[in-house]
Amino acid sequence: MTARQQPKNLWISRWGFILAATGSAVGLGNIWKFPYITGEYGGGAFVLVYLACILAVGVPVMMAEIAFGRRGRGSPIEAIANLAREAGASPLWKVFGWMAMLAGFMILSFYVVVAGWSFSYLWKMASGSLSGHGVAELGGIFEAGNANPWALGGWATLVTVVTMLIVGRGVQEGVEKSVRWMMPGMVIMLLIMIGYALTSGNFSAGFHFLFDFDVSRLSSEGVLAALGHAFFTLSLASGAILTYGSYLPSGTSIARTTFTVAIADTLVALMAGLAIFPIIFANGMDPSSGPGLIFMSLPVAFNQMPFGQLFGVLFFAMLSIAALTSAISMIEATVAWLSENHNMSRTKASWLAGSVLWLVAMFAMLSFNLGADWTLAGKHFFDWLDYLTSRWMMPIGGIAMALLAGFVFKSSMLRDELDLSEGGYRIWLFMIRYVSPICIVAIFIDALGVAALSLEDWPYFLGAIVLACGAGETLSPRLRGPRVA
Ligand code: PHE
Repeated sequence: MTARQQPKNLWISRWGFILAATGSAVGLGNIWKFPYITGEYGGGAFVLVYLACILAVGVPVMMAEIAFGRRGRGSPIEAIANLAREAGASPLWKVFGWMAMLAGFMILSFYVVVAGWSFSYLWKMASGSLSGHGVAELGGIFEAGNANPWALGGWATLVTVVTMLIVGRGVQEGVEKSVRWMMPGMVIMLLIMIGYALTSGNFSAGFHFLFDFDVSRLSSEGVLAALGHAFFTLSLASGAILTYGSYLPSGTSIARTTFTVAIADTLVALMAGLAIFPIIFANGMDPSSGPGLIFMSLPVAFNQMPFGQLFGVLFFAMLSIAALTSAISMIEATVAWLSENHNMSRTKASWLAGSVLWLVAMFAMLSFNLGADWTLAGKHFFDWLDYLTSRWMMPIGGIAMALLAGFVFKSSMLRDELDLSEGGYRIWLFMIRYVSPICIVAIFIDALGVAALSLEDWPYFLGAIVLACGAGETLSPRLRGPRVA
């Protein structure tokens, strides 16, 4: 397909794209992880840094990915190859499309296991099997669920099948139609939960925990955690946003849609915090109890509240929906690639991708039970999937996207696609060329444990950006892009 052709798969409306991209961004990361790490790294100060990271790295890279998708019109591999061709650059750049697609696939193969926890708790909550238990018993129930490969595997299988059923129905009929009711439904459930937290939970403790500006609790690790989370939460460098962008009709403003998605993603994370922490505090629980937090302790709270079972069902329904709308975006790149390049129907492509995914996911699931002893360098397969994607593939992919957008592809192509005002375009170009890659390199260095940046290192960090700007702008005329007439 040539780069400027309109593909047959387009969102029915601009809102279709916004809802789908927001659905991808809002996931287990927002509802569980964001509130938890916010508390860990200093509340309000962390939130501010996180917002800055969303603006400095997340928004520019997301705009670039959507522009790649829409200009290149295809799966990440196709889109990057098309753009490289258009720019006269090496088609080998498409290796980063491969990496993004693979990252999405690998994330999904452990994400379905975690989403399976959520589905199983929705069921347990609805059937009443969690009622009447205390903290210790609930911890035992969580562990017993993980120790049973049939139960854990069964729930992960259900998540995989539901995901593939939605994806198999196509972009408009499957993805867009389901996010149209799932996303507003999720927001309504969150609002109900906040209403409950406001009236029955310890809202003020929850609010202070999330928003008190305590800079002394903000470490360099917190700054980097905020940056890393901004990346993961916006579903960047995993093929999801790029592929969704390839279905965006021309004429829709990429900047406006990106801001809408980033703001919605951030608001949902903040709302989730406001819904969860007041409940945790009202019941005297520890907000930093790790991955099992919502599964082991929230049901205790639900058991104690009036209409707790109903709120419990609402909460886990919301979490399951959030996980599902993210899951469908993680496999979209693979399905798009299979159906575009291998002449396969969408249904067939979904079932093929889903079957391979299921096998990998089952292997990941065994890390919790039968394969508890199967480790390599101290990590289970489940941990390896997480480690490889979040520590290596996403940061490398992120830098690649920024460098492709900033230096390799012709400025005129992306300027045309982004359709920003002159000032807006210059700000974006500066961010994508210098600020975003340097921030990502900093996360990467920290993640590898090579060095930990401290707050005193910030002048050096800013100096590095200035040096990189100078080097980038003077060394190669190609990097400069055409001057504006
Ligand atoms: N953004 C999702 C979340 O916060 C995770 C995700 C990563 C989704 C990569 C798609 C691609 O849970």
